[in-house]
Amino acid sequence: MSHEPFDAVEVITAKRDGRRLDPDRIAWVIDAYTRGVVAEEQMAALAMAILLNGMDAREILHWTTAMIDSGERMDFSGLDRPTADKHSTGGVGDKITLPLAPLVASFGVAVPQLSGRGLGHTGGTLDKLESIPGWRAALSNDHLMRQLAEVGAVICQAGSGLAPADRKLYALRDVTGTVEAIPLIASSIMSKKIAEGTDSLVLDVKVGSGAFMKSMDDARSLATTMVTLGRDAGVTTSALLTDMSTPLGLTAGNALEVRESVEVLAGGGPGDVIELTVALARVMLDAAGRPDADPRAALADGRAIDVWRRMIRGQGGDPEAPLPVATHTEEVRATAGGVLTGLDAYAVGVAAWRLGAGRARREDAVQAGAGIELHAKPGEAVRAGQVLMTLHTDTPERFGRAVEALTGAVTIGPQQTGPEAPAPAPRPVVLETID
Ligand code: URA
Repeated sequence: MSHEPFDAVEVITAKRDGRRLDPDRIAWVIDAYTRGVVAEEQMAALAMAILLNGMDAREILHWTTAMIDSGERMDFSGLDRPTADKHSTGGVGDKITLPLAPLVASFGVAVPQLSGRGLGHTGGTLDKLESIPGWRAALSNDHLMRQLAEVGAVICQAGSGLAPADRKLYALRDVTGTVEAIPLIASSIMSKKIAEGTDSLVLDVKVGSGAFMKSMDDARSLATTMVTLGRDAGVTTSALLTDMSTPLGLTAGNALEVRESVEVLAGGGPGDVIELTVALARVMLDAAGRPDADPRAALADGRAIDVWRRMIRGQGGDPEAPLPVATHTEEVRATAGGVLTGLDAYAVGVAAWRLGAGRARREDAVQAGAGIELHAKPGEAVRAGQVLMTLHTDTPERFGRAVEALTGAVTIGPQQTGPEAPAPAPRPVVLETID
């Protein structure tokens, strides 16, 4: 005989009919799902009802709390410095965590970046770092704490004890068409970040073809929901809405992105990657009580790359070792001359994925050297026949499908000529701040 206080079908039909779920029912359904009492098909039906009918702010708060309560909470209060963390909703060429964590740590702020692997067209931070010979993603809690105290920055795999309800629910959403519900995305991200126990958090909410959120309105709504959840939990939280209509930087793919991140840490690298790294660092340093810190100077003078080397060595990696390089390359050329007006992030992400940089199933391996190098970005003048992209893979039979994904991805407009022709304005990366 069941001793459960509620019935899953009653919870599903309440949301199906557009009613609010009360806190007790929300706490029960998440707990019972984690215990296996609520079946996968019942949770799938509830997730779809939430996607279609939404949840209000109080329901989202209770849903997030229940997910946090499904597992352990970490505690960094024993450290002698404040903690600051960043979360990105994911995009193409988004390697920002790599330069950002050591940069912020170089100012005496602890940065615990518990990260994931990529699935689909966006790359995962751990996959990128695993292209560094010897580097390990899985750390014990003791190792994590020791490295935070000694180096200040850690990028590692989140332990399985953190919000286990989310792990189960995210895998289910992935195969039931229910990823795109704002209440479910917000509670998924924030349950993990709040359970992690950071003092402050900056959210990089991506907008555009390569992001979950395709419109500014949806991105704003997601960002506002997450900022409210963070604040209600006592975490200093703000969000930047940032452009993901075109890839970030000039690389998409694991080792290629590590190489570009090291360029940024060494004081060089593409302007948009520097701009976003510095913007996020400023928000994190401000929240951690270091408003006068100058992150641009720490990239230029070597402080940030020193922390990067110690962070990589701390996890078994060799920061000086050559990075893997793919065995085959192919070039994509401009079909006309003019100004590059568009380079679609989603298409580049799918092409990099098809080259072997990403995985289709969680258990697949990724190729460290696979991916795409861009040789021009929107706003730049190009000549007919100029190389726009170099595709990299170890398995050349993949080139055909990757090139197919790039069909229509590049748009070239007429170039204005003459002495009065204005130089194209660089596209801003940061579109809006929510705090
Ligand atoms: N990332 C997460 O962690 N959860 C989501 O639901 C979407 C993106």
